Amino acid sequence: MINGYSPDANVDLPPHVAALIARRQKVMGSAYRLFYESPVELVRGKGVWLYDSLGRAYLDMYNNVSCVGHSHPAVVEAIARQAGQLNTHTRYLNESVVGYAERLVSTFPAALSNVMFTCTGSEANDLALRIAKKCARGSGIIVTENAYHGVTAALARISPSLGSGVPLGSDVRTVAVGKTPAERLQFADRVQLAADDLKRHGIQPAALILDTIFSSDGVYADPPGFLVPAVEVIRREGGIFIADEVQPGFGRTGEAMWGFSRHRLVPDLVTIGKPMGNGYPIAGVVGSSTLMDEFGHAVRYFNTYGGTPVACAAGAAVLTVIENEGLVENARRVGSLLEQGLRELARQYDLIGEIRGAGLFIGVDVVDGVTRSPSPALASCIVNLLRQNGMLISASGPAGHVLKIRPPLVLKEEEAAMFISALRGILHSLKQNGTPAMANGGLA
Ligand SMILES: Cc1ncc(COP(=O)(O)O)c(C=O)c1O
Repeated sequence: MINGYSPDANVDLPPHVAALIARRQKVMGSAYRLFYESPVELVRGKGVWLYDSLGRAYLDMYNNVSCVGHSHPAVVEAIARQAGQLNTHTRYLNESVVGYAERLVSTFPAALSNVMFTCTGSEANDLALRIAKKCARGSGIIVTENAYHGVTAALARISPSLGSGVPLGSDVRTVAVGKTPAERLQFADRVQLAADDLKRHGIQPAALILDTIFSSDGVYADPPGFLVPAVEVIRREGGIFIADEVQPGFGRTGEAMWGFSRHRLVPDLVTIGKPMGNGYPIAGVVGSSTLMDEFGHAVRYFNTYGGTPVACAAGAAVLTVIENEGLVENARRVGSLLEQGLRELARQYDLIGEIRGAGLFIGVDVVDGVTRSPSPALASCIVNLLRQNGMLISASGPAGHVLKIRPPLVLKEEEAAMFISALRGILHSLKQNGTPAMANGGLA
């Protein structure tokens, strides 16, 4: 795994951390991974700051779930208040659940007027696939080459980023996002080829599903609008377009609430999750009443914890904070300052390649200073050095050479400057001292 802790690297760990890792491994088994060569034990969070068991502070430049900041008092209060009053499920009438649903859909284009609640982004995508397959009367799914859409059996088979240990379905086709803007302008041609190939194998295309910021593919936001012809292709072929907004949604891209808006299109279905409850599990599928009714008349839906009054209270508080604190605008403004700072570093240090993204979702290519080819080892080294300096980010992309910078939306200008200054220090020392010997593809 990119940026994963490896016990074989024999990194010196504080005794209490080593002991907790051993207990975790014993009781939770082998499927889980930890971030960083020296894993971080977190005990507390506030705003964009996280604190470890020794009281050390980390600037959180990575966690999009706590979009309005860790432990935001308005969200904590809303959850506690509702939990103290009532927590049932969607088979009972409840004013605040319906009120939240109305408020949530009002942030979408008018055509997307229905929401169905789930607990996780995976459940949302799973449900969206069921709706797509039922309504498009097909099973073919088109995804990007390094997509990740979730953990269920149906999603693992459309998530190539999980690697060769998790086979793709025979009715799944992958398309490259395109490394250059010119290649991305040809994206629709690749979607057409994928649809043609599905049909050649007797499979009716049901959906094109895309994370509209292409987070696991390496963060590709531009050129705005490059998705439009691809969406036209899938519709012409009888399928639907599902925008997976689990990553870019809720204002992260800094121009609108939803990442698809950057492309000036209206999806058929939108899946949302992660930041929706600022850490309280709530997610969902948003779509037109026509599509939802076609599915809903044939299929009964009930999700015990999806859209409980407490989940909806958390969701409503998140919307209020985003509005009251002007967080979409903050993502635009501070994101643009962060990007400027990174561009300045790219001019000074040849280890930094292309910088991509929108708002507070930024991908930075790390490259070999001489050959300019992608350098996952150097990216891992930078991620781990930042962690040692009290700044948390991770890496992404098929090779793992893209620094993934995705802080809570409440990041302030001065905190962005602190991050740039820490990264500058690291790039400077790498330039002065050369790249340190790397164990496990990263810093020993
Ligand atoms: C683009 C995307 N879709 C879906 C999911 C799945 O969400 P969850 O982990 O809440 O099931 C993720 C999670 O990382 C994701 O990044």
